[in-house]
Amino acid sequence: MDELNRKKVLEVKHLKQYFNVGKKDEVKAVDDISFDIYEGETFGLVGESGSGKTTAGRAIIHLYTPTSGSIKFNDQEVIGMRDKQKMQQFRRDMQMIFQDPYASLNPRMKVKDIIAEGIDINHLAKDDDDRSKQVADLLETVG
Ligand SMILES: Nc1ncnc2c1ncn2[C@@H]1O[C@H](COP(=O)(O)OP(=O)(O)OP(=O)(O)O)[C@@H](O)[C@H]1O
Ligand SMILES: [Mg+2]
Repeated sequence: MDELNRKKVLEVKHLKQYFNVGKKDEVKAVDDISFDIYEGETFGLVGESGSGKTTAGRAIIHLYTPTSGSIKFNDQEVIGMRDKQKMQQFRRDMQMIFQDPYASLNPRMKVKDIIAEGIDINHLAKDDDDRSKQVADLLETVG
């Protein structure tokens, strides 16, 4: 909580994400960024192409293992998290929405199955009827 009683959802401190460390082609894609995101807040990260926005997102959701720094989600340190169950919960709670629908959505799949992928992976549906209902509800939610 800060002085306005807002809940801090994400705290990123001194995050670094380097690639090919120690090699000739080493890239410091993200080099020491820090920021907080509070509940209900929309946070924009702006920068020129290649400045590390996507890499920062991927490091934060732990698609990469960050080179160093700290990422706290709901007060829990994510870097180095070993507990499998906690990690699974984290993967449910924080996700990336990719910009390009043509690269993200498989045109050979039914809309229903595309939307249900996350439900399936996380075992969130009791049965097939529940799965259909959740998909319909989601479509309703986003209009
Ligand atoms: N897996 C990787 N291995 C090596 N270098 C990488 C890797 N991923 C990204 N990079 C490099 O890291 C830098 C940051 O790339 P990133 O894609 O994060 O930028 P961006 O800000 O998202 O750019 P854009 O606005 O074009 O989407 C670039 O120099 C890129 O070439
Ligand atoms: Mg990008």
